[in-house]
Amino acid sequence: MNKPVIVLGAGGHASVLVDMLRSQGIVPLALVAPTASAPRAVFADISLWHDEAKILAYRPHEVELVNGIGSLPGNSLRTELFARYQGLGYRFARVISPQATVSAYAELGEGVQVMAGAIIQAGVRIGANSIINSGAIVEHDCHLAGDNHVAPGAVLSGGVVTGERVHIGTRAAVIQGISIGADAVVGAGATLTRALGVKQIAYVARSSVMPIK
Ligand SMILES: CC(C)(COP(=O)(O)OP(=O)(O)OC[C@H]1O[C@@H](n2cnc3c(N)ncnc32)[C@H](O)[C@@H]1OP(=O)(O)O)[C@@H](O)C(=O)NCCC(=O)NCCS
Repeated sequence: MNKPVIVLGAGGHASVLVDMLRSQGIVPLALVAPTASAPRAVFADISLWHDEAKILAYRPHEVELVNGIGSLPGNSLRTELFARYQGLGYRFARVISPQATVSAYAELGEGVQVMAGAIIQAGVRIGANSIINSGAIVEHDCHLAGDNHVAPGAVLSGGVVTGERVHIGTRAAVIQGISIGADAVVGAGATLTRALGVKQIAYVARSSVMPIK
């Protein structure tokens, strides 16, 4: 990244990204968030812009954006902001942790973020604006569409294919060759052994809850 970096968002996801950027010698020009969130040491010395219009003072080719908005089922802000600024001609940087393992034979789309401990194997394709979160594994030949979130510790066995805006929950496991439709959700801890259709959700059965004696 040779241009000044502006981070959209100033919450938890943004803090992880800023930490990763700092570890690569990059200090963002500013964070953009309408309201102040809890103070975080990692944001010290970085300007916080409450007015999104300040981004527009820079022409698209003068800066790079980083999407610091986190991604959870049912929340579309991350996707909307990416589309809005891409539509205005801005470009989103890929952010890849130096502690992640990414095959030279994997293809990562614009703005893809890969957190520490994640492994992405040969033949994988990851669509734009997707997050491969801490410790997640995306095995060989998986093809993920845009705006996907593979949450911390989730495992996609080889050849999994997903549609747009799929969420694979924390520690979920998906066996090989499964297809997952757009806007589907694999709940945290679920094991998916069959295809999931568009806008379907897969849960694990809740385990028994007992009072502690
Ligand atoms: C699957 C999920 C989307 C369901 O959310 P939801 O529809 O809002 O469900 P609710 O929280 O209202 O819970 C409904 C019921 O399902 C249970 N439930 C929710 N998620 C579950 C899961 N992953 N596994 C088992 N049971 C689950 C709840 O305990 C609740 O049970 P109850 O009715 O007996 O009390 C959500 O729980 C989940 O797993 N999200 C992914 C979290 C994640 O990956 N975070 C990453 C952050 S980086």
